[in-house]
Amino acid sequence: MAGITNVAFRRLCREQGGGLFVCEMVTTRALVERNPRAMRMVVFDAGERPRSLQLYGVDPAVVGAAVRLVVDSDLADHIDLNFGCPVPKVTRKGGGAALPWRRRLFERIVRAAVTAAAPAGVPVTVKMRKGIDDDHLTYLEAGRIAAGAGAAAVALHARTAAQRYSGTADWAAISALKSALDVPVLGNGDIWEADDAVRMLAETGADGVVVGRGCLGRPWLFADLAAAFSGRTERALPSLGEVAAIMRRHGHLLVQWFGDEPHGCADFRKHVAWYLKGFPVGGELRRALASVASLAELDDLLGKLDADVAYPVEVLGQPRGRTNSPGKVYLPEGWLTDRDADAVPDGAELDDSGG
Ligand SMILES: Cc1cc2nc3c(=O)[nH]c(=O)nc-3n(C[C@H](O)[C@H](O)[C@H](O)COP(=O)(O)O)c2cc1C
Repeated sequence: MAGITNVAFRRLCREQGGGLFVCEMVTTRALVERNPRAMRMVVFDAGERPRSLQLYGVDPAVVGAAVRLVVDSDLADHIDLNFGCPVPKVTRKGGGAALPWRRRLFERIVRAAVTAAAPAGVPVTVKMRKGIDDDHLTYLEAGRIAAGAGAAAVALHARTAAQRYSGTADWAAISALKSALDVPVLGNGDIWEADDAVRMLAETGADGVVVGRGCLGRPWLFADLAAAFSGRTERALPSLGEVAAIMRRHGHLLVQWFGDEPHGCADFRKHVAWYLKGFPVGGELRRALASVASLAELDDLLGKLDADVAYPVEVLGQPRGRTNSPGKVYLPEGWLTDRDADAVPDGAELDDSGG
């Protein structure tokens, strides 16, 4: 997740339980240009295995070059290609979730990545949405194309680009994709609790789940997932004191990762509301934590929380993070009329790394 899954947050999550923790999305153009910010995003902890990297690109040549760079410099053990971005400035140019509609271009991109990764034995996976909107679904065909081009697995965020993050994910689409493909299918959308993951696998037959917003302010979700997948019923319900300890560790890891307190603390602030969701904490203390500027201040403020307050069980299963409304998907002129045109869309590369 862009802006979230940096080295610090991945470490916090990895400490909780097993899984594949994917780094923030990096654009292939930024990587090929060795943009310093992009290069810094492709960094993993010493013990972090597999090193899982997500790339975004619209040009098969650039995607191939970026994957070659990754492989030649031994930067990652797994590469995921992201075709799920619904951001208007990207789809308007034919990128992100708009791209699989142009099926030949989509195939060329996946094939370029797979071909460049194959000599090093690095698996390439694909993440996508259901399609542009309900009248322009792409996932079944795109899944077959990706598998045919050598993708090792396909993950489906079971919403269309038009839905953005609204409503509920359509798990039936995950079942349909699972029935259509021989490669593993990973289901994504609305895993808020470990039991949602178990239910998704049971209902859809998917081979695994992808967790997005559910872990925001709840890295212990991965401990719950590990328990659930090994048939255990215990679930983490941390007290406010235990949450404060994780917040403190997150703050310290961010400062370590960013290399200084101002940047680390600034990045920490976005997580505060997610950690405290549902806990009875006054507005003043919440605001102070959400504008924290140093680790000493963080320690001081966290010390003011009532450590004995029990976990607010009423937030269990509730959406967190963005839940924005559906919206029109802006596309380049003529995008829908010719599915087999495979010219690289102009300006659809994100100029920076992000989601
Ligand atoms: C803040 C934020 C950043 C995201 N960044 C990315 C990204 O970089 N790459 C990606 O494939 N998906 C990204 N997503 C989408 C999630 O991976 C996931 O597909 C989506 O949130 C649906 O899953 P969920 O219901 O579990 O949240 C992002 C989502 C959020 C909320």
